[in-house]
Amino acid sequence: MGKEYLIFIFGGTGDLARRKLYPSLQNLYMGGKLKGLRKVYALGRDRGKLDETLKELEDKFARLIEFVPFNVEDKESYRVLAKEVESFPGAEVIIYLSLPPQLFETAIVYTGAVLKRFPNPRKMVVEKPFGFDLESARRLNFQLKRYFTEKEIYRIDHFLGKVPIQNILSVRFSNYIFEGIWNKNFIDNIQISATETLGLEGRASYYDRVGALRDMVQNHLMQILCFLAMEPPAVMDAERIRDEKVKVLASVRRFGREEVDRFAVRGQYSGYTHELGRDSNTETFAVVKLFIENFRWEGVPFYLRTGKKLKEKKTEAVIVFREVPGNFGRLLGCTPDRNKLAFEIAPGTRVVFRFQMMPPTGLLACPMESSMEIDLAKHFGQSPPEAYETLLGDIFEGDQTLFIREDESELSWEIIQPIIDRWKEDPDVPLYKPGTWGPREAREFIEKDGRKWVVV
Ligand code: BG6
Repeated sequence: MGKEYLIFIFGGTGDLARRKLYPSLQNLYMGGKLKGLRKVYALGRDRGKLDETLKELEDKFARLIEFVPFNVEDKESYRVLAKEVESFPGAEVIIYLSLPPQLFETAIVYTGAVLKRFPNPRKMVVEKPFGFDLESARRLNFQLKRYFTEKEIYRIDHFLGKVPIQNILSVRFSNYIFEGIWNKNFIDNIQISATETLGLEGRASYYDRVGALRDMVQNHLMQILCFLAMEPPAVMDAERIRDEKVKVLASVRRFGREEVDRFAVRGQYSGYTHELGRDSNTETFAVVKLFIENFRWEGVPFYLRTGKKLKEKKTEAVIVFREVPGNFGRLLGCTPDRNKLAFEIAPGTRVVFRFQMMPPTGLLACPMESSMEIDLAKHFGQSPPEAYETLLGDIFEGDQTLFIREDESELSWEIIQPIIDRWKEDPDVPLYKPGTWGPREAREFIEKDGRKWVVV
């Protein structure tokens, strides 16, 4: 008989589980990829919400889901874990923590203590936010390592499950035309943005504790930065790929708390505190400028930008190239645009290359910006799978390539820790109007460097 699996979803009646995890598991299961899946335990409090979701799922898969009333903080609740694991000897046990961050440690310790008693193979999947700052991330890693080996730990960053982000590595490392110019000699700056039009969407209590820097920059945007900046791995293997990402994070120039204003800007949309129902200086917008101190990237700024209630939903990475020396446009007295290569991750999934061309009016006309675009879905004739489907499939298969390793998680906290400290002591957050591109300070921040924000 093939391998058997049990998956326990902590927070199994929550929003993420209902919106993403069950549909993704269903797709994998119905597609014949999880033949050994025996049961899906939905651990939580509110059965009603789960019942609604079950109605939308296919019977064959829904039958595997069992609701288990569960209180994460009550040790007694964990008996059910022991009972179920005992009745499936040899089955691999996957624990998926989709919980509020303050419950992670308790869940890890109690679960770890139960599983220790059984020989079953196990995996521990931890959703973000992985920690609240450097110290808590270290503590979380410490607790995890008491009960699980690094090979058993899957720290999720759902951005890594997105095909257009994985595509960055494929485009970089299989095209001479790009890789040959992928360095400080040809690239002026790199902009990684995740701008959103939505606001709090019922997540106020989570979001207000966290803010844009922790919610998006520390994890999602930093991961995109790693893919853009890393060296090619020596072999296609989870450890070698993650080693290269770690090297990038270790090479990011550190700055002290007193220098933060030169490297970061924040903002809060007007109306945020009204929506929240109390005062708050949590940022809903953040920009961070990072430098990677190595041969390839010395002096090239990486601008990471994110915010809620902005003008457009756009997740993309744009590589802005330097101006050509003796630029033809300048010789003609025009203001030339720079070449740009963009990886659009949302709302579309495109790779776009912007370059200069002569318009039909003739040689003496200003070169015009023109675009070569590849829409991934159209080009390949299929839409990419949902990020969670890819990641869940990898967890079952035991492939850790697209998961965050312990050292990665701590290094990225280390980079932003001075910003956290500085912003905590200064309550003065610039406001911005919803529907704009963020506070005036963000525009001035990049303009001071002689650059501007690009949206492709
Ligand atoms: C989540 C953040 O991790 O990512 C949210 O907590 C954010 O605040 C979301 O909206 C964005 O992800 P996506 O896949 O919807 O672009």
